[in-house]
Amino acid sequence: MSKPRGIWIAGNWKMNHGPKAAARFFSELGEELEVLPKETTRKATHLILFPPAISIPSALESSVGLPVSIGAQNAHWEKSGAFTGELSGPLLQETGVNWVLVGHSERRQYFGETDETCRKRTESLLQQGLKVILCVGETREQRESNQTFDVVGRQLGSVLTPTLAPYLDGRLLIAYEPVWAIGTGLTATPSQAEEVHAFVRTRLREITPAAAERTPILYGGSVTPENFRELLSCPNVDGGLVGGASLKAKSFVGLIINS
Ligand code: PGA
Repeated sequence: MSKPRGIWIAGNWKMNHGPKAAARFFSELGEELEVLPKETTRKATHLILFPPAISIPSALESSVGLPVSIGAQNAHWEKSGAFTGELSGPLLQETGVNWVLVGHSERRQYFGETDETCRKRTESLLQQGLKVILCVGETREQRESNQTFDVVGRQLGSVLTPTLAPYLDGRLLIAYEPVWAIGTGLTATPSQAEEVHAFVRTRLREITPAAAERTPILYGGSVTPENFRELLSCPNVDGGLVGGASLKAKSFVGLIINS
């Protein structure tokens, strides 16, 4: 399949795969990619893996020569200072990392991430020249009480302020991840995904129409090699943010094959 904004496959390893497992993953990925026809690997134009922070150096080293980028699962908005346990843009850039996930629902649920801290991270990291995947999505209760668009609209609205307009040059991606679909095996149907993705694109259009057209919107929540193609067939789904199915090289390659 080819898509106007390319096809994006981002793997979020969460708190899995230490440095040794990361190195093994990339060695297996290299072997798997080598036997794939070149047309297949070219289809998925953008591959990004988000290992735990401690495995980033190993991932960078062992992925040399592979068509993948390495990102961080979180980063602070300040460049340095007394913030125990945090990573900053300059620390990441020094190691060769340019991608950061912001506002994953697990950070919102368990670590006090708010719309306001998502705004600060996104704004500051983009201003520092990094690339950001901002995650949004509603819980099951919110969907069942018809609040999906209010919640996603609020999450986007607090981050997508006019200050961001100059930075919407393809370096900000949005991931729509319904919380009820994450790690549950309950994938959103293509029409459920498409209606929220179309809504996200409309909100982006309100900032600048050009930005809306060039911003990839990824779907996340129990994406597998089996359901990926159908999700990708939706006009506003430009790829996937994938947890479980990104942990093994074989299933990550399965996503590429089915893209
Ligand atoms: P999952 O996780 O693919 O395991 O559902 C997705 C995510 O949390 O990004």
